[in-house]
Amino acid sequence: MRTKLYVIVAIALLSVYSAHADELTDWIGVVQPIAQKNLLRNISYPGTARGCVIASPSRENPDYFYHWVRDAGITMDVVVRYFIEAKDSNEKVHLESTILDYINFSAQIQATPNLSGGAGEPKFNVDGTAYLKDWGRPQNDGPALRALSLIRLAGYWIAQGKKDWVEEKLYNSLNTSVVKYDLEYISHNWKNSSIELWEETRGQHFYTRLVQKRALEEGAGLAEYLGDRSAASWYRQQAAGITKALYSHWSESKKIIVETLNQESGPSKPSGLDSAVVLAVLHAGNENGDFSIADEKLASTVAKLEEAFQSIYPVNQKGFPAVAIGRYPEDKYDGYTTHGEGNPWLLITSGFAEYYYRLAKVLNKASEIRITPNNQAFFASLLGQKFQGNMTFKSGEPQFRDIIERLTRKGDDYLTRVKLHTDGDGAMAEQMNRHSGYQQGARDLTWSYGAFLSAINAKSR
Ligand code: NOJ
Ligand code: NOJ
Repeated sequence: MRTKLYVIVAIALLSVYSAHADELTDWIGVVQPIAQKNLLRNISYPGTARGCVIASPSRENPDYFYHWVRDAGITMDVVVRYFIEAKDSNEKVHLESTILDYINFSAQIQATPNLSGGAGEPKFNVDGTAYLKDWGRPQNDGPALRALSLIRLAGYWIAQGKKDWVEEKLYNSLNTSVVKYDLEYISHNWKNSSIELWEETRGQHFYTRLVQKRALEEGAGLAEYLGDRSAASWYRQQAAGITKALYSHWSESKKIIVETLNQESGPSKPSGLDSAVVLAVLHAGNENGDFSIADEKLASTVAKLEEAFQSIYPVNQKGFPAVAIGRYPEDKYDGYTTHGEGNPWLLITSGFAEYYYRLAKVLNKASEIRITPNNQAFFASLLGQKFQGNMTFKSGEPQFRDIIERLTRKGDDYLTRVKLHTDGDGAMAEQMNRHSGYQQGARDLTWSYGAFLSAINAKSR
């Protein structure tokens, strides 16, 4: 009798879940082309130079009508992926010309004298001239993100027999070639403090360091291939230096990766928690090893972030799926002013979906999943059960499969959460109000679309 009841309940739960999953799939089918169209619309937008990527069409309250090097690099990584995967030849030609415009625009702003005095200048006017007002400078993640998207493109062009294009447009031994310019900047400046991706805090940042390390490693591979040997070994040497520095961001007592060390300015952040750590791995982490998707230190950080934002944001106490995630618990930027209440962000909540999908994929290929004191809290919350000491689940065991399924489902929960806060027209702003859940801040944020498209790409794999 009892077993029968369990079976019925289990079947009922399963069908509720698959009904949700179907709804989610349908919604993605509708919103994906909209997100792609809206993202592409923000590149070479009317009234801007060709190849300029505006952060948002919003010109006031807030004014995001600028080319941010970071937002543009993250966006173009998505565009390059679409270009590589495009089947339709018209679409492919169109995407490639968009990318060529971006390369030209990047060369132009790299050559433009600016107040950072180099590649760390965070944003430019939409005609490519320098922005001359006060801003948090320099921001040293931008050049790394730009280089990463273009190195991915270089790899594809080389595979297509277009090595000459790579040498002409992206990388040659001249320090002025677009990719090399960034790699030179990174390799000579990574030890200096800078302002982080949220544009508020000066210090040494995990996000900046991880994207810098990956750019130098990928860049070394490209330099080597193109015969620029001494540059390749210099980049590798500096990447190794950054790797060493990255270990110091782990806090054994808090069991989190701390975003900023040696803080010199910016808001006080006693929690030490910051979603930038998760974005860092999404944008630059490998699939395995230290500071990768599979790193248990990251899992622990994710669990602590979920716990914090669950209790801070009232909108997370309404029984909605997953947890809407913000930048950091002490955040006061509400999308308009810096003395309001911080909110959950769409691009970060999508980022958490991507994390769970990618983790499911990596662990599914592993021979075992190990529960350790570092990732215990993460798995306890995923499986709704406490763990003591170490445990190992071997591939093929039912618990192993259960973990993979739950990770995937959690990814779906995060996307369902994004769906819940997004209207039928698919428009995505920067934030969601922490009380009401309604979108606020810069409308049609290019990065929100990019993060969403990356998450559904990870889901489809
Ligand atoms: C707008 C954004 O860059 C945000 O991150 C920051 O808090 C404020 N400006 C203040 O610098
Ligand atoms: C504020 C965010 O904090 C920053 O990361 C971003 O680059 C700008 N807005 C532009 O979207």
